[in-house]
Amino acid sequence: MTIGFVIGESKPTLISAQTSRPLSVGEYVIVDSSDGKLLGLVERSIISSAALDDVHNYDEALESKEIAEINIRDKSYTTKIGILGYLEQLQKGTSIVPAIPPLPGTPILEATKEDLGVIFNPNQPEWTKVGSLLRNPKIDCKINLNKIISRHLAILAMTGMGKSNLVSLLAKQIGSLDGTLIIFDYHNDYFDLNIPKNNLIDAKINPRLLDANTLADVLEIRENADIQQRILRLAFTPEVKESKEFWSALDEQVALVGANPERKEDRHSADRVRDKIDDARHRFADILDPDVMDPISLIKEGRVNILNIAELSEKQANVALAYYLQELLNDKKISTLAKNPKSKTKRKHRFTSPIFVMIEEAHVFIPKGEETHAKYWASKIAREGRKFGLGIGIVSQRPRSIDSNVLSQMGSLAIMKIVQEDDQHQISSAAESISKDLISQLTSLNVGDAILIGQWVNLPSIVHIEEVKEKVIGSDQNAIGEWSIKNKLENVIKESTQSLIQKDLLLD
Ligand SMILES: Nc1ncnc2c1ncn2[C@@H]1O[C@H](COP(=O)(O)OP(=O)(O)O)[C@@H](O)[C@H]1O
Ligand SMILES: [Mg+2]
Repeated sequence: MTIGFVIGESKPTLISAQTSRPLSVGEYVIVDSSDGKLLGLVERSIISSAALDDVHNYDEALESKEIAEINIRDKSYTTKIGILGYLEQLQKGTSIVPAIPPLPGTPILEATKEDLGVIFNPNQPEWTKVGSLLRNPKIDCKINLNKIISRHLAILAMTGMGKSNLVSLLAKQIGSLDGTLIIFDYHNDYFDLNIPKNNLIDAKINPRLLDANTLADVLEIRENADIQQRILRLAFTPEVKESKEFWSALDEQVALVGANPERKEDRHSADRVRDKIDDARHRFADILDPDVMDPISLIKEGRVNILNIAELSEKQANVALAYYLQELLNDKKISTLAKNPKSKTKRKHRFTSPIFVMIEEAHVFIPKGEETHAKYWASKIAREGRKFGLGIGIVSQRPRSIDSNVLSQMGSLAIMKIVQEDDQHQISSAAESISKDLISQLTSLNVGDAILIGQWVNLPSIVHIEEVKEKVIGSDQNAIGEWSIKNKLENVIKESTQSLIQKDLLLD
């Protein structure tokens, strides 16, 4: 169906059009040029009225409004359309922009399912549905799951815009394909995700397996507490690491180091270290477990593993994440080597198929301008993971605070509403394929709307992501509802105790 015509000055990648109805920014249209159909994306949409154009007072406005209503030629719908390339080539996966701009007078057509389906809704098994095109809602939008495992993913948006919903949706899809996903759940967002293949586990740290500096982090010994750090280093001997009663052995050894008659001043610091050991041991008994020999064994292949790190302090979460990432990368390396028939490696490995790891609050673990253990391993996976079938997904509401190197390694992006300019700037420098026009769309997106760019889509796609219903509790709390339930319950309790008291009185 013809909805308009090219007008004015045309360029090979940008045209203007007059249309019979206002077009929405983000809508895909067809430019029916004489040497083949072109796919266009509406970048700007302007509505104007001739009668109401030059109005100076209220009465004039009232009069002009009436004239405008009678005159069907009064309104004009002007559209700027970016040309993405020849439709036929785009359907084959390449983008070729016309050498000669579309002639003025070229018809603009509504895009049909046949036009867009091949590009946004391919049929191959690695493509999985995430929603529909925001402005062409009849067209389903899929993403290529293979690409996020081989080339990583970033999900970036302000709080409450649908990041965790998209993670849940990907979890659901990966689960249905018997894939292996690990979500590091820092805010207990996924414990209620009710999908068939999930495996809820608490992250564990085995203190025996750490080095002295990392153990100091876990025990929350400050970095500038030099004497405490030294005492812990001296006390954390191989014998202590191997002793049956790890905590008491460590405590005794710290006391012994602190009792050195030549360094009387150490005594006080040693006592502080002993307090911290005692404290951590009791406060984090569930997490710091010297008897869990292999924390990785909790992760199950072919499942959506939700690894709870919510009870950990930031430093401990960092240590746990670093440990898991390191072990996963090593395991995947060994399993890849083992697949090579010439390889002589006898080392055991756990996982035989690809794994995808999601890190929520990525700005905490992969911060800009600061070296952390987790960041070291995350960037190593970002660089090398592809060779071993280990993909990484980073999720954050503060893209400006994420390490730019790691962010630029993410081959695919989902970006939802972002208002902060620093954040937009960081995204545009990390992802070359995102145009200024797309970036300017970011402020006008609603909850669940996203721009998908990079290798997991054939073309930058503006979509509405499906809402995942398998969550028992939404992340937005219903305070009013809960208060009213609490009130009702209290009233019921009050009433029933009163009636009990009255009964008691009667019985007396
Ligand atoms: N695609 C969507 N469609 C409809 N509602 C959504 C969608 N994504 C998220 N929401 C709503 O917004 C709320 C916040 O989403 P969430 O994914 O937790 O945001 P974030 O992780 O970015 O803070 C959810 O509780 C849900 O009700
Ligand atoms: Mg979230």
